[in-house]
Amino acid sequence: MSICCRRARIDDRPALEIFVRSAYPDLVPFKGPDRWRWQFLENPFLPNIEGFVPVWVALDGDNIVGQIAIQATDVHVAGRVHSAGWVVDVIILPAYRGRGIGHLLHEAVVSDVPILLTLTMAPATRRMAERAGAITLGPTWQFSRWVRFQADDVQRFLVRRTRHHRHLTKIVQLACGSFALHHMLALLINPWLSLRDRNYKPRPRSTSIAEVERFNPTIDGLWQRVAAGYPAICPRNSRFLNWRFVDCPQLVYHLFQAYRDGALVGYSVLRCKTSQELRQGVIVDLFANRRDPAVFRDLICHAVEYFGDEVASVECATSLLEIESILSECGFFKTRTLAPTIVVSDESLRSEIRGLRNEWSFSKGDHDWDQIDPAADRQYIPAPVSQRLSRPSNTINHSDHTGFSRRRAQVFRCWIFRRGNARKCREGSKAQSPSANHNQTMGRSFVTPPHSNPVVVAVADDRAANQL
Ligand SMILES: CC(C)(COP(=O)(O)OP(=O)(O)OC[C@H]1O[C@@H](n2cnc3c(N)ncnc32)[C@H](O)[C@@H]1OP(=O)(O)O)[C@@H](O)C(=O)NCCC(=O)NCCS
Repeated sequence: MSICCRRARIDDRPALEIFVRSAYPDLVPFKGPDRWRWQFLENPFLPNIEGFVPVWVALDGDNIVGQIAIQATDVHVAGRVHSAGWVVDVIILPAYRGRGIGHLLHEAVVSDVPILLTLTMAPATRRMAERAGAITLGPTWQFSRWVRFQADDVQRFLVRRTRHHRHLTKIVQLACGSFALHHMLALLINPWLSLRDRNYKPRPRSTSIAEVERFNPTIDGLWQRVAAGYPAICPRNSRFLNWRFVDCPQLVYHLFQAYRDGALVGYSVLRCKTSQELRQGVIVDLFANRRDPAVFRDLICHAVEYFGDEVASVECATSLLEIESILSECGFFKTRTLAPTIVVSDESLRSEIRGLRNEWSFSKGDHDWDQIDPAADRQYIPAPVSQRLSRPSNTINHSDHTGFSRRRAQVFRCWIFRRGNARKCREGSKAQSPSANHNQTMGRSFVTPPHSNPVVVAVADDRAANQL
């Protein structure tokens, strides 16, 4: 067997598609051509290397037997910008594993990409990075805040946690099937959660928070004002944010901006997990001046209220101690600690990065961390777009493609705005992305009823608001 590793060319795409289908038989729906194009061809940070794609392949003859892909990014280190890449989609066909092909591929990537970052990774990928001389960066923590559990949530959670241990999964299934363990756990946990919520006294907010459909250039102003407080970070400008959260073909993100005295002071990106995943809300990204914890607190409290009890739990991740302490105050607890790595070719940059190893800022918006994470017991059935558009809102429930409950679906999908005549946005349609004009309209006239009222509506003017 002779294996050769090289960077894939654009004309390798059909072979790559076949490879991805055979390498990820269970994840095929989440690794489809739309996502691939968005992640690897439409990425605004992609260095312009004509004819090539950011995927390195291992070939046995003409057959692709393994790959490492790179999700391009910039990194800002001590005020200077460098091109880098997140290591993603590392996979070797089972018949070829354990023969050093992973190391070979990783070496090929290291020789072409000057900075390689990894945040979530399998032990084998860590070994590859370590052999390439990776620096291990300070910890990034994942947090969870339990909200309210249905018995089904408990069962799905237990099955998912034990999915790599066949015997444990069987024990869980038996305990739930025969002894209703999931019902008992839900009965025990929920009263405790109610008690916690009864004692919770929300602090008054120092900002007002409004949803937008796209980040406009004011976000670049925020980034420029506060980036100096982040010694090492991947950019949080409109170029990154719109590509990552608005143009992403697979997932629906909700973008919120925080204003104080009319000025933009922070943003958050939230996602309700799809019905194939656990019933969770995710605070995917948070950004504000690091010296202004009140903005982070407002955004986190807003997210908790926003998800309400439509989710079983809310997840968030951060490497910043400032955010960590606010999350703890708001009832989140640590569920996982990650040790990100960075491989840097340039020696002087390497020592600079080593000095800043505990200063990096990461969230779930980095790497490809936030992607569909299917729970074992739900099949992925993508709803055809036409079906989604014509479905009346009162039939949307948790088995819906977007994972929204009926109530939450109403909250997110009822956008009314006027451009000439008031018109209603099509449900869930990203194709209806607003122009700068629309953003303005959305930002200006939000009617946000109390949390108990399910509908949040953006309106064009007072007349439309009164009609509502
Ligand atoms: C991970 C994977 C790509 C490794 O490829 P491979 O060709 O078998 O890797 P190599 O033989 O080059 O071994 C690379 C290193 O990983 C280690 N390794 C391999 N499989 C491992 C495993 N399951 N657990 C822990 N370490 C492992 C090897 O010991 C080796 O380390 P060492 O040389 O320092 O001893 C392959 O096992 C795979 O495709 N797994 C399924 C997909 C996956 O988990 N991808 C990682 C996503 S981040």
